[in-house]
Amino acid sequence: MTATASRPTTRSASAIAGPDGHPLFGMAQALRGDLLGTLQAGFDRYGDVVAYRIGPARGRRYRLVVAVHHPDDVRRVFADTEAFTRRTSTYRTLNELFGASIATADGDNWQRQKRLLQPLFTRAAADRYSAIVSEEARTVVQPLEASVTTFDALAVTARYALRVLSRTLFADERGIDPDTSAALEQLVPIVSRMLPMRARQVLRFPLRWPTPRNRRFISTRKALQTTIEHVLARQRALPGGSGVDLVSKLRNARDPEAGPGLSEHEVRDQALMFLLAGYTTTSSALCSTLHLLGRHPELQGQVAAGGEELAGAAVQEGLRLHPPAYALGRRVGPRGARLADYELPAGTDVLVSPWITHRHPEVWPDPERFDPWRFVGECERPPYAWFPFGGGARACIGRHMSLLESRTFVNTLLGRCRLEALDSHMPMDQLSTMRPSMPVRIRCQPR
Ligand code: HEM
Repeated sequence: MTATASRPTTRSASAIAGPDGHPLFGMAQALRGDLLGTLQAGFDRYGDVVAYRIGPARGRRYRLVVAVHHPDDVRRVFADTEAFTRRTSTYRTLNELFGASIATADGDNWQRQKRLLQPLFTRAAADRYSAIVSEEARTVVQPLEASVTTFDALAVTARYALRVLSRTLFADERGIDPDTSAALEQLVPIVSRMLPMRARQVLRFPLRWPTPRNRRFISTRKALQTTIEHVLARQRALPGGSGVDLVSKLRNARDPEAGPGLSEHEVRDQALMFLLAGYTTTSSALCSTLHLLGRHPELQGQVAAGGEELAGAAVQEGLRLHPPAYALGRRVGPRGARLADYELPAGTDVLVSPWITHRHPEVWPDPERFDPWRFVGECERPPYAWFPFGGGARACIGRHMSLLESRTFVNTLLGRCRLEALDSHMPMDQLSTMRPSMPVRIRCQPR
């Protein structure tokens, strides 16, 4: 008997199963109030493809959000940037905040910025910073290794991430100055709350309208710009201007195809975006890894003995369990798209979530267990089983830098200290990125 290959049938998006939610608002409040809890419940009940309707359950006047969780579907979403665009309300909001930066640009403008910036962020380029990163890790770890001490892992990793950024972005060996640190400490939580709030606002007034929310948004943006201008002014005043830091390289970068480099205005916007993107994500990922290691003394011992390779594996496993960018959105472009055997109409919102896929039982046995060994040696997993840095053309440009920074810190700290996490849980806030919502206490004992 010969098997006839049947053509996969494509169904309409309205056939995708999902929860009904509120009769008037659908799933809007659930997604806004607890995005991950809602996505997890949807995955547990409906599987790899789930539809969330926003708006009234009756009639057809709802907006559709489709979440896909299988690595193969995640790959499709990242692979086709025309079908799955970044024209989402999150990116519109980021654009309002960061102006012309690479993270928010689109089309030709993005291509030009990517050509300019990519060479500064290759793995080899990141490795050139390894001496600086090691030096900073030693500086931050040194006060912890003198005697038994308890520290807040979030505060320590934030300080480390800022020091590394200060050296790599601005060539400033003094570290970020206290005024800037204080300004960032105050502004980052505000921005992290404000971004998703504006992005998910049903009635979103243009920024030129002087509503109280808009005024707050604009004054926060102004404060961020003032902060970065202060940092850039300090950098310009450095004797001899080093030229090895990213900002100097940004100023000198030339587009091989289109000629001119970035304007001073663009340099400011890029520097601000890099500072915020590199600061919050890396510090909270590293903090999670320290907490996990502090809860698993046996694995911690193995990582301490395993050098950089195992330290890197622990960081990857930390990013699997606690990916700071926990959900990423795309919007289906004007020609519609096909995904997981469904036809999605133009304008459909699509969500992928590293948090959920990193726990997919088909690819991750015993998914909640912390086990750095998953990332040692050959592993037979589909490419998008692990994607804390996104994927495709718009994957995180800072990933090599961030991984280098984190594994160097883990290796340096575990080489000198034994860690014990004092709390069994690390409650997290779902802001623009995911961050611990309270101090993460770790007792540290010199080896
Ligand atoms: C653990 C640390 C980090 C995580 C988890 C992370 C995560 C991500 C993710 C998921 C994206 C893609 C967003 C999307 O597809 O919608 C992204 C993009 C980006 N990240 Fe990161 N990131 C990290 C560190 C950094 C660092 C250290 C920098 C720079 C110093 C950086 C700069 C950027 C930039 C510029 C983009 C936009 C790239 C583009 O659109 O072409 N990130 N990041």
